[in-house]
Amino acid sequence: MNGPRGISSLRANNHPKIPGTSQASRTRRRPVSIRRALRLSKLPGLGSFWPPRKRAARRWTGWVGRNWARVTYARHVEPTWLELTHHQVAVPDLPLLFDGFRVVHLTDLHASHRVPTSLLMEAIDLANAQQPDVIAVTGDFVHAGYRHVDRVARIVSRLRAANGVYAVLGNHDYSVRNALGWRRFPRLPETIAAALAGQGIRVLRNESVTLRRGESALHLVGVDDLWSRVCNVTRAFQGLSSHEPRLLLAHNPRTVNQLADQRCDLLLSGHTHGGQVNWPGLGRFLLTKRNRRLAAGMYRCGNVSLYVNRGVGFGFRFRFQTRPEVAVFHLQRAS
Ligand SMILES: [Fe+2]
Repeated sequence: MNGPRGISSLRANNHPKIPGTSQASRTRRRPVSIRRALRLSKLPGLGSFWPPRKRAARRWTGWVGRNWARVTYARHVEPTWLELTHHQVAVPDLPLLFDGFRVVHLTDLHASHRVPTSLLMEAIDLANAQQPDVIAVTGDFVHAGYRHVDRVARIVSRLRAANGVYAVLGNHDYSVRNALGWRRFPRLPETIAAALAGQGIRVLRNESVTLRRGESALHLVGVDDLWSRVCNVTRAFQGLSSHEPRLLLAHNPRTVNQLADQRCDLLLSGHTHGGQVNWPGLGRFLLTKRNRRLAAGMYRCGNVSLYVNRGVGFGFRFRFQTRPEVAVFHLQRAS
């Protein structure tokens, strides 16, 4: 009676050789290459070449490939890939003559040797193409120092808007402080403000302007950067009627916390660059927890509509899922 094949094979191995019959014909042997590979797979360090570890290796190479592609894109594509965004904003008490008023918002140009002139020029052209009533630029014209002040002033001098171009200064325009708290470039804010004014751009430093159409008014207010130690919201809003709508330009979105006593219908800001990186699984990890709450986009803070623009330039050339931005706001009468 014949037993199972495996048992008969074992028996065959233990049996002495029967004259006239070959061992190969009595047992089913694997090909030599497979036997050698199985032997190798038991050696330490070589086991990962074989299933089930082969699947893990494939997953690992896939992860590396995906992230290599992301890094390449974030370094070479996204930093100069501008996005135009449109936003409808309902403003209480907006006079009929200002219904449909168009504000184009640029921020964080960060002029430096890293940010190409072509990107800044493209942003300027995109802003002009929107036929804006007002263009607002909310700071960080330069990344550091005096070297690029004249260059950026010449670039933004090309901005054109029916009711003018307005600006406020950002923390980089006040210069980065050193470890002792001293400003590295103490005359930088005055130098930038003078260069911009020389190109016809009105820099609002804790002050306001009133735009008029007939008897109707819209107030445009600008404050110095929150970290400059000279930001003065009370002075900026002084003398304005609380029955008329107000737009505020402020580099840092956290300026919204200073507005408890002031009416502000729309606050335009930048500063965060959207975190520059919004990595899958990690999010906007370059921002502090506090800044992550106001990282990018539209927020409602009490009665204030706050917009955080992702900016045009960058400190370091790397953006992922936070494309550089030019934003257009269409003001509408709140019903
Ligand atoms: Fe910035």
